[in-house]
Amino acid sequence: MPEPKKTSQKKSLKAVGKDSPPQNRSLDSSRTPKVVDAPPKANRPRKPRNTSGPQKTITQVRTADHNRQRTRTVLDLAKLKGKQTIVGLTAYDALLGRLVSESGVDFILVGDSVGTTMLGFATTIPVTIKDMIHHTAAVRRANPQCLLVADLPFGEASLSFDRLLDSARSLMQIGGADAVKIEGGKDIADDIEKLVATGIPVLGHIGLLPQTVKAIGGYRKFGADREEAESLYTDAISLEEAGCFAVIGEMIDENVATELTKQILPPLIGIGSGNGCDGQILVTTDLLGLANGPVPSFVKPRLDLSKQISSALTGYVSDLKKPRK
Ligand code: KIV
Repeated sequence: MPEPKKTSQKKSLKAVGKDSPPQNRSLDSSRTPKVVDAPPKANRPRKPRNTSGPQKTITQVRTADHNRQRTRTVLDLAKLKGKQTIVGLTAYDALLGRLVSESGVDFILVGDSVGTTMLGFATTIPVTIKDMIHHTAAVRRANPQCLLVADLPFGEASLSFDRLLDSARSLMQIGGADAVKIEGGKDIADDIEKLVATGIPVLGHIGLLPQTVKAIGGYRKFGADREEAESLYTDAISLEEAGCFAVIGEMIDENVATELTKQILPPLIGIGSGNGCDGQILVTTDLLGLANGPVPSFVKPRLDLSKQISSALTGYVSDLKKPRK
C-alpha cells in the first residue's frame, strides 16, 4: 500500500470522531500557502478570491429563475465553496438529464447507480464502462446546462494506469462527460494526479464506496471512530493534493464530514453525511420515490412516483379492459 504523500503524513484530523468531539474547526492555515505556491495542476481549485459580486464567465448561463449563474466548468464548481451550497443530482438518460438540468443543479452525475436504479442489478458492481458511456451519451444529448460528470465503474481503476486513462478518456470523448468520478482515497491518488495532468478533471469519492460493498460486507457509516476519521482525513488530503476539483463524501459521520469540509480546499459534497458539507448530492430516483427497493434513511423523497405511475398505468389498462358492450 503506498505511503500517504507529501505533507499529508504529518497532518492529522484533530479532535474528530465520536470519542473526541471537534474543538478547533478553523482551516489549518499552515496548508494554505503550500497550495497557493504549488505548481499549477490542471484543475486544482484556487483559493477563493475576494470579489464584490459573482464573476461572470463565458461558460456560465442563467437558470430559469434568472438569478443564478449556472455551473458549467469544474472551476465554476470549485469556486462555489464557501459561497453557495453546491447541488448535484444523478441522471441516466436524456429525459431525466433534461429535467434535472432544468431544476438548476450545479452538476449532474451519471452514477454507476444506474445499475441498481435502472438496470435491475443488486449492486453497482456489474456495471461496465460500455454501460457508463451509453448512459452518459444519452444524458449529454439532453444538452444539460451544467457540469456533466460520469462515474468510472468497478474495476476500471485497478488494472493499470493505461486502462484507467483509456476508460476515463472514453467517458469524455465518446460519452461527452466534462469530468469523471472515481471511488477511492490515498490508494488511488497517484493515478488521479496523473489523470488530472492529462487534462481529465476528477471528482473524488471517499467514505462509503459502493463498489467495495462486497468487500466491506454492506452499507454503513464511516468515521465514527478516531482511526477511521484519521484515515478519511488522509484520503481527503491525498485527493486534494492529486488535484481533484471536488470530493464526494458518502455516509461519513456528520462531525467528521463538517470538519473535513473546513480542512480541505476542494468542496466536499456530501451524501448521507449531514448538513455541514459544501454541497449535497442525491440519487434522483430516491428523491422522486421511484426506487426499485428501500431508499436510504437520509433521503426524504419529494414524490411517490412509483405509486403514481403504477396507478396511472393500472387505471389506463383496466379502462381499456372493461368488457365491450
Ligand atoms: O453512483 C452514484 O449515484 C453515486 C452517488 C451515490 C454519489 O456514486
